[in-house]
Amino acid sequence: MNLKYTFQLREPVQALLSEASRINSYKPEKYWYPLSMATYDVEEILAAIDSLCSFRTTMWEKTGRFERQFSDFAGSPEAIMVNSGSSADLLIAFALVNPQNKFLNRGDEILVPSVTWPTQLWSPMMAGLKVRFVDTDPNTLNMDFDDLESKIGPKTRAISLVHLMGNPCDMDRAASICKKYDLILIEDCCEALGAKYKGRSVGTFGMAGSFSFFFSHHITTMEGGMIICRDQPLSDLFRLLRAHGWARNAKYANPESEEGLDPRYMFLNWGFNVRPTELQAGFGLEQLRRLPAFNAQRFQNASYFQKYIDRHSSIMRLMEVLPGAECSWFALPIMLTPKCHFKKADLLTYLEEEGVETRPIVAGNLARQPVCRLYPELREGDLPGADAVHDRGFYIGLHPFEAKKNLDRLIEVFEKFICKRS
Ligand SMILES: Cc1ncc(COP(=O)(O)O)c(C=O)c1O
Repeated sequence: MNLKYTFQLREPVQALLSEASRINSYKPEKYWYPLSMATYDVEEILAAIDSLCSFRTTMWEKTGRFERQFSDFAGSPEAIMVNSGSSADLLIAFALVNPQNKFLNRGDEILVPSVTWPTQLWSPMMAGLKVRFVDTDPNTLNMDFDDLESKIGPKTRAISLVHLMGNPCDMDRAASICKKYDLILIEDCCEALGAKYKGRSVGTFGMAGSFSFFFSHHITTMEGGMIICRDQPLSDLFRLLRAHGWARNAKYANPESEEGLDPRYMFLNWGFNVRPTELQAGFGLEQLRRLPAFNAQRFQNASYFQKYIDRHSSIMRLMEVLPGAECSWFALPIMLTPKCHFKKADLLTYLEEEGVETRPIVAGNLARQPVCRLYPELREGDLPGADAVHDRGFYIGLHPFEAKKNLDRLIEVFEKFICKRS
């Protein structure tokens, strides 16, 4: 749907947005350099109004259109939109153990990263798989492949990778490990939209890849996510798992009518309800158009900051990007080196006081979170790389609109702290 007269609302919506930013600038937030900033504008709001006023708010034509455009963008034949990146992870995990494919059996082991967003772990656990932590390489912030290989045992059947902070993993090594040990690969790309390895989009290397369009991510649909995969029957399974197991949501399967069964209410599998809305898909269509410009600006800003950080490489570093990898910078993750002469806590307190918002690198070493006391399988032995990220790492925002003068101000803030302590 595209209503004929929504363009007449462009000026009033623009006026509302200007008023909103004027009101906000009277009451400045605590942070002049926040973790995230809104990336949507008039066009996204008009797309949402179009869906509201045409009474097409639930999953419909825009969702299909966004899925097709996303699959073209990612170079994957199939894309299935859901209501969050966590839901994408959840459906991938449930697809692994679904009787339709039986890729895995409940109780099989899947190796997972020790530094990631926790829903990447909860999903396989909820699907009945046994997760085991792999250590993290503090240079790349991704899985330590030596530790990964040492943890492959008789019950290991799959690996769930994450391309943390937009930094692609070594996919040659991942592919050769999976081949050698006959393992299924799945990829969490929720922080890596637009990232590539040797020219190929992350998420296309394994059985399926998940993406997130949360407010602070590379593009936003407010909340939202996407699954990509190659296989048509598998994409149908995702469509069934997305909406009740309901036959009408399958794209390729054409089930025969069954006696005594109304085909309108026919269920081919079980499923959740994690459908997106048309408002989200309308946002997605507009944001996807703008993604190349957003990512180019993110890259430029990260490179500018990198040049500054490189001057202090004995005390702090950004993550290492491997040869052949194209990073789609999600944020600016900073690792203090073991030689650093000041405490991370002192730097963070100072940055927060100066109006620069900070966070740990995702959840730090997940094995140190209180939740691990509830689930024995999450009690892992030594994870020194994840501990290093936990103890010496933090991140600050990276925005596709940041003006150079703001980056210079950010650098001045860092420099003031470092000069005082040298
Ligand atoms: C690596 C990773 N996986 C999964 C998710 C979950 O995505 P969502 O917040 O859309 O549920 C996130 C969210 O930030 C993430 O960073």
